[in-house]
Amino acid sequence: MGKLLVTGATGNLGRRTLELLLERLPADRLAGLARTPARAADLAERGVDIRRGDYFDHASLVRAFDGVDKLLLVSAEAFTDRNAQHFTAIAAAKQAGVEHVIYTAIQRDETLGITQVGVTESDVFAEHALRASGLTYTILRNPMYLDHLDVYLGADPYAQGVRVPPGEGTMAPALVHDLAAANVAVLTGEGHENTTYTLNGSEAASFREIAATLSEIHGTTVPYVTVGADEYLDTYLRNDLPRPVAEFLTAWVVGVGLGSFSQDTGDLERLIGYRPTGYREFLEKHYPAVTAPRRAA
Ligand SMILES: NC(=O)c1ccc[n+]([C@@H]2O[C@H](COP(=O)([O-])OP(=O)(O)OC[C@H]3O[C@@H](n4cnc5c(N)ncnc54)[C@H](OP(=O)(O)O)[C@@H]3O)[C@@H](O)[C@H]2O)c1
Repeated sequence: MGKLLVTGATGNLGRRTLELLLERLPADRLAGLARTPARAADLAERGVDIRRGDYFDHASLVRAFDGVDKLLLVSAEAFTDRNAQHFTAIAAAKQAGVEHVIYTAIQRDETLGITQVGVTESDVFAEHALRASGLTYTILRNPMYLDHLDVYLGADPYAQGVRVPPGEGTMAPALVHDLAAANVAVLTGEGHENTTYTLNGSEAASFREIAATLSEIHGTTVPYVTVGADEYLDTYLRNDLPRPVAEFLTAWVVGVGLGSFSQDTGDLERLIGYRPTGYREFLEKHYPAVTAPRRAA
């Protein structure tokens, strides 16, 4: 039996996937890809076969994918040449004799035709390349990471309100942990061949509803304030984010408002077999601790 290999072993999603796989399978069935293996030394110490490889280096990937049956291809970063990287990885998988490639895309609603800058076009390209490759594939379209919700809400929504561009579209963000559990389900289970799933956390909300939830948690009104996309972008720029990143994040929030992330499928819960964490639970856990004023003893 060949190995299961997870790329991005030094990143959030890949690392968590390998940690969950270690709870289910003997370490000698597991491999991880890293550009800098030393950064995954802890996984290597636990018996994971950490292999060096770079998405831009075809030969390194063919070597790294040797003896691998199933491969989780964690998508490459936005603002880089994702098409070249994903195509190279898929071609190398084919050449190395991998049977099944699982690709993590970003959720999109094809009926709306919204192109999310930095990800949609390259996801479409990767999905087409994978389908055309003849490899068995599974596509896991990921929602916004719940772990990153603070990036969109700003440093202190209790002080400033939820200030976002207008739009009543909803989203059901999910924790990296729950998305990693879905990766594990597909890597270790049967019946996911040549299938596309859209993964969501267990509750959908618009930014207006998120402001209302924060108000309930905090016990005072957290205003929902709509601002122009330019003003929203400026907030990131004032916090020294590079312009392409600020534009990417702004476009993402505008996309939420327009409904790009509104499809809510239940696929994640069916794959992992438990109710994934929803935004309300996340806010209850993190926002009082971080930003709520202390109550008098
Ligand atoms: N749904 C969302 O809200 C959301 C949020 C953020 C990202 N994403 C997407 O999901 C992916 C995984 O997210 P994450 O949080 O795990 O990102 P992350 O922590 O930045 O990890 C990205 C991983 O990809 C590896 N990588 C980057 N370029 C590579 C290359 N040329 N060759 C081989 N490996 C390469 C990185 O390795 P190094 O350690 O060597 O850099 C790292 O292990 C991201 O890459 C992005 O496409 C989604």
